Amino acid sequence: MKRRITRRRFFNQSLGLGAGALLFKDLPALTGGQPVQVPLIITSHANATGKKAMAAGWEVIAGGGAAVDAVEKAANIIEEDPNDMSVGYGGFPNEDGVVQLDASIMDGRTYNAGAVACLENIKYPCSVARIVMERTDHVLMVGRDALAFAKKWGFKEEDLLTERTREAWLRRRENLSDRDDWGPPDHLKDLPEYQRPERKEEVDDDPHGTTNVLAVDRNGDVAGITTTSGLGFKIPGRVGDSPIIGAGLYVDNEVGAAGATGRGEDVIKSCASFYMVLRMKEGRTPQQACEDALRMIADKYKKVNPDFLPGEQFIAINMKGELGACRMTGKRPGRMSVQRASGYSIYTGSVAFPTGQ
Ligand code: GLY
Repeated sequence: MKRRITRRRFFNQSLGLGAGALLFKDLPALTGGQPVQVPLIITSHANATGKKAMAAGWEVIAGGGAAVDAVEKAANIIEEDPNDMSVGYGGFPNEDGVVQLDASIMDGRTYNAGAVACLENIKYPCSVARIVMERTDHVLMVGRDALAFAKKWGFKEEDLLTERTREAWLRRRENLSDRDDWGPPDHLKDLPEYQRPERKEEVDDDPHGTTNVLAVDRNGDVAGITTTSGLGFKIPGRVGDSPIIGAGLYVDNEVGAAGATGRGEDVIKSCASFYMVLRMKEGRTPQQACEDALRMIADKYKKVNPDFLPGEQFIAINMKGELGACRMTGKRPGRMSVQRASGYSIYTGSVAFPTGQ
């Protein structure tokens, strides 16, 4: 059964932790007397890795740590998962077989942000983004210079391809065209023993891609991370929405935070995460804000191609700990992992334009 922390219980817990200090600023004004559902940490990964990441992030928050530390610790767990083919190590490579990672981080306390794009050979791109945020006067670093920067800070270069993603890339490359020389010689290519074995992919408990991790800590500070290996087999050099502040991620310490996954091109053009936070500032709930942003994108395309609905999922949280998750289309609603003092749960949101019911 879902157990909410009431305002009084929250204060009792907080006081137990912190020598009587007021640990959540402006709480009465923020909650308007509603049950307090913060602190919390969430991720768009509603699978086993997401749950593990939430436990790690929660440890930071429960110990009185900062939201920005919690989201980094949680996102690192998803980045290092070799079986996750959309984020960090083990993510799908680009067209040339090279894994190029994008990530961003934003800290509501300081109105500060950092990001990296097309970063190769570094397992924890969100941690490099954090150094860009905290130790430079810049927001976004890209490509080989981002790699050189990371190495200056002591990050080790590693091969980010796993046997699984290398095999997937080779199979795709060989099947891409019958007008090049990839694949077995013509006189052998139809023989069964010359076919690349089809790998039977494990069925995950939730389809996911890029990940967003968002948190509100005991102090009422908000932070977020979006991290990804981007579109599988993308054109080398392509940058998605994840490292673009306002597109794949946005955080406002007075409002909440939002993140996007899915086809990044639509998210960049619509500044979707900024838009969601703006909608929440105007009084919309996180759930409504996610739905508003997806409808806004669909409306734009309707004028050009009425049948086109891009594939995205948006998630959002506000300072009261209310949640939002919405998928553009399909039959599965938007979902996310949620960790609060009351425990771990999966939040199920909505589909903006349901199909295939
Ligand atoms: N949303 C991730 C990407 O498009 O790269």
